[in-house]
Amino acid sequence: MDVIRIEGGRPLRGKTYVSGAKNAALPIFAASLLTDEKCVIENVPDLSDIRFMAEILTHLGAQVDRIKSNTWSIQSGDIKTTAPYELVRKMRASVCLMGPLLGKMGKAEVSFPGGCVIGPRPIDLHLKGFAKMGCDVTVDNGYVRLNGRNLKGADIFLGGRHGSTVLGTANLVMAAVLAPGVTNIESAACEPEVVDLCNMLMKMGANIEGIGSHHLRIEGVQRLRGCTYRIIPDRIEAGTLTIAAVITGGRISISGVKIDHLRALIDKLEEAAISVSIESPDCIVVEGNGEHRAVDVITLPYPGFPTDLQAQICALMSVTKGLSIITERVYPNRFMHIPELQRMGANIAIEGASAIVDGGVQLSGAPVMASDLRASAALILAGLAASNETWVQRIYHIDRGFEKIDQKLQSLGAVIERLEAKYMPAGFRNQE
Ligand code: EPZ
Repeated sequence: MDVIRIEGGRPLRGKTYVSGAKNAALPIFAASLLTDEKCVIENVPDLSDIRFMAEILTHLGAQVDRIKSNTWSIQSGDIKTTAPYELVRKMRASVCLMGPLLGKMGKAEVSFPGGCVIGPRPIDLHLKGFAKMGCDVTVDNGYVRLNGRNLKGADIFLGGRHGSTVLGTANLVMAAVLAPGVTNIESAACEPEVVDLCNMLMKMGANIEGIGSHHLRIEGVQRLRGCTYRIIPDRIEAGTLTIAAVITGGRISISGVKIDHLRALIDKLEEAAISVSIESPDCIVVEGNGEHRAVDVITLPYPGFPTDLQAQICALMSVTKGLSIITERVYPNRFMHIPELQRMGANIAIEGASAIVDGGVQLSGAPVMASDLRASAALILAGLAASNETWVQRIYHIDRGFEKIDQKLQSLGAVIERLEAKYMPAGFRNQE
C-alpha cells in the first residue's frame, strides 16, 4: 500500500487546473443506462470511484469503454437489475443505480448501503419517493428490492432532518424521466452535481423544469436518446486547492473553475480577509500571506458552505490565529479528521456538531491516518503547512476523489511524494 510523504513549509506558487467533478460523474454514468443508445461522457476524472462505477455497469451488462484518458462511452441494452453487495460495498454512491434500473427495467435489487465513517447514511427519503411513485419497496437479506412495474408520476416532498438529499434527488429524477405522468419533487437538492445530471438528461431528451431550484417538475417521456456530455469542474477540488494556497502563504492561479459554484467559499475567505481575485469566468487567483483571521463556518446544503470542504477549512483554521467554530449541519459526526489534526498539534475540541478551533499553532509533521476522502485532503493540507515531515497513510481514500493531487501540488512547488509504505521510518507505520 502506498503512503504520501510531505515536507511542509513551502509556499505554493504557479498555475493549476481543476478536473471533472466525481460527484457529478457518478450519477451521470448511472443515467447512461436509461437509453439503449451510446452516451459519451467527457471530462471524467481518473479516480478509483469512477473505475468502481464502470465495473458495476459492466457487471450489469453495459458496454463501458474508456476511449480517451478522460472520456468514457457507455451503451446498454437490456441489463441485469441486481447490484450485488461485493460491488456496492466498495462505493456507497452505487445507491444511485436504483433510479435508472427502475426507470429502464422496472425493477432493481441493490445491496443496502451501510453507514460510513462520516456517520449514518440513511436512504429513507429515496425509498419514500419510490413508494410515492407506486413502486413496491421491500428490504430483505441486506437488499433493497424495488418493483416498479406500475411506476408513475407523483408529488414527492424530499426534505429531511438535514435538508435535501443529493443522491435521493438524483435517484428520483432518474426514475421519473421515463415514468408516465408528471413528478413534482419539492425540497429537491440544487447542488451543481444534480443540475449537471438534469442537464445531461435534458440532452438525452428528458423533460425537466425548475433545474437548479428546490422544485423540479418532470414529465415522463417514452424514450431517451444517447448524447455526448461534458462533466462540470469539481468545486470541492477547486476549494481544496484554494485552501492549499492560503494555508502555505502562497499564490496560485486555478483555471477551469466555475465561479458560481464557489460563492460560499469565496465569501467565507473574504470574511477571513483572504484575497481571491476572479481573473476570468473560469479562473481565480488566490493569495495567502498569513495575515488572515479566524472565521466561523456552518456547513449547509448548496448554495451554503459545502460539508465536503469542512475538513479542509478545519485544517486552515488550525493554523489561523483566533477562535473559530465550525458547525456541521449536513453530517453532524463528520469529524474523523480532528484526532489526526490534534496529533499534528492542532487545538480543537468537539462539542456536539461543532469543532471549536483555537487556531494559530505551528503544526508539526507526524504520521497520520486518512479516514475518508475529504479527511485525507485536510491531512495533506495540514502537512503542507506543518514543520518537518508528514506521512499520510490509507491514501486510497484520496485516490477515490482527487485526480493526481500529489502531481498537481508538486507542480506548484510542494514537496510531496507517493511511496510504498515500506519506506516509512521504522515505528511510523500503523500495524493494520
Ligand atoms: C452526496 O452524498 C455526496 N456523494 C457526498 O459527497 C456529499 O457529502 C453529500 O451529497 C452532501 O453534499 C455523492 O454525490 C456521491 P445526502 P448523499 O443524501 O447524496 C441525510 C464526498 O466526500 N439523509 O445529500 O449520500 C443524510 O444522512 C461525499 O464526496 C437522510 O436523512 O448525501 C445527511 O445528513 C461523501 N435520508 C443529509 O441527509 C436520506 O434518505 C444529506 O445527505 C438521505 C439523506
